Amino acid sequence: MRIILFTGKGGVGKTTISAATALRCANLGYRTIVVSTDPAHSLGDSFDTRIGPEPTQLQPRLWGQEIDLLHQMQRHWGKVQQYLAALFAWRGMEGLVAEETSILPGMEELASLMQISYLAESGDYDVVVVDMAPTGATLQLLAFPEMATWYIEKIFPFERKAMRIARPLMRTVTDMPLPEEDLLDAIESLVKDLNHLEGLVSNPDISTVRLVLNPEKMVIKEAQRAFTYLNLYDLPTDAVISNRHIPDDVTDHFFDGWKRRQVAYSQLVEESFSPLPIFKVPFMAEEVVGPQALEHIAEAVYGDTDPTTIFFRGKAQEVVKDGDDYLLILPLPLLDKRDIQLHRGMHDELIVRIGNWKRHISLPQSLIGRQIAGARYRQDHLEIRFRNSVTD
Ligand SMILES: Nc1ncnc2c1ncn2[C@@H]1O[C@H](COP(=O)(O)OP(=O)(O)O)[C@@H](O)[C@H]1O
Ligand SMILES: [Mg+2]
Repeated sequence: MRIILFTGKGGVGKTTISAATALRCANLGYRTIVVSTDPAHSLGDSFDTRIGPEPTQLQPRLWGQEIDLLHQMQRHWGKVQQYLAALFAWRGMEGLVAEETSILPGMEELASLMQISYLAESGDYDVVVVDMAPTGATLQLLAFPEMATWYIEKIFPFERKAMRIARPLMRTVTDMPLPEEDLLDAIESLVKDLNHLEGLVSNPDISTVRLVLNPEKMVIKEAQRAFTYLNLYDLPTDAVISNRHIPDDVTDHFFDGWKRRQVAYSQLVEESFSPLPIFKVPFMAEEVVGPQALEHIAEAVYGDTDPTTIFFRGKAQEVVKDGDDYLLILPLPLLDKRDIQLHRGMHDELIVRIGNWKRHISLPQSLIGRQIAGARYRQDHLEIRFRNSVTD
């Protein structure tokens, strides 16, 4: 069983790469399903066919599914949401506002991601390929399983047994809507499902995330940020797919400037994501639609390699707490232990330079406001200390 998730900024080629990956997996003999959780569905366009909100068979071993957010939302959160809406309304919130407020942030996307657990559990598939919503929303929801559990436990801190005894009594003193048994059942199974989903997507033997980007400044920047949070949330990332490189044999001078810039940005991609492997995909001469075009893309990404391969294990960056400080830990290749140069760029940017080895890192929110209190080598990694300025 293998789950491969694709994320990246809108328009970079997530759907195309997801479709190509799934097609290749199916052709290799794996029973494969590709699901899109992006509300802007285009999986069907990619395969040049219609794909429904339930698994739709596309080829002997290939299925596609464009998830219907509203339906998934009803299915997983319906009861919880109804109760919250009733509770908010009881506190004096107006009906529609109460309804809206009862949708917790990230809930919608999370509901669609929960479909992954169901597909994985079903035993019908060897590979589940997920075409995710663009980065910002996705990261929030990836962190969400734990957050959601936290919310739920805060909102519903009721002991079931105590509740059974207290309910009749409370009814005589308050008209507050009380959670009924079936709601508590629903919450219990929701928490279980969320934990299960978290277990699946954070298991590096099952799931890996692949970052899709283009050699363009803003896109790389956003992918850096995504990478930082993926590492922070313990979601294993195993490859970067750099899509839409203008091929060398394009000689039209119109593209000279673009080509020069793409070379420069390829270097930045390297410095931002190594030691992850980076797969380059050329800009295709024609629109990528239909199985044949997708097969070309798969060839460009994976060559002869099986897409289910786990291309990288471990973490390319890690943040750990040390007393009041945080340590940013970077594994290092074999290097002369020369002077470490640290440079804070704009806002969240940190550039680490040791000789001609260089890394661009997007700092997580919790480190941005902190002072760097030094860096040192520890065996095979570099440790950068971020001091809590409040206690200074
Ligand atoms: N390597 C490529 N060469 C040419 N066109 C591409 C390539 N990759 C993607 N496209 C096209 O770019 C558009 C956006 O790609 P898509 O996969 O839908 O991006 P996303 O899902 O990230 O929004 C589509 O029309 C797709 O056919
Ligand atoms: Mg898409």
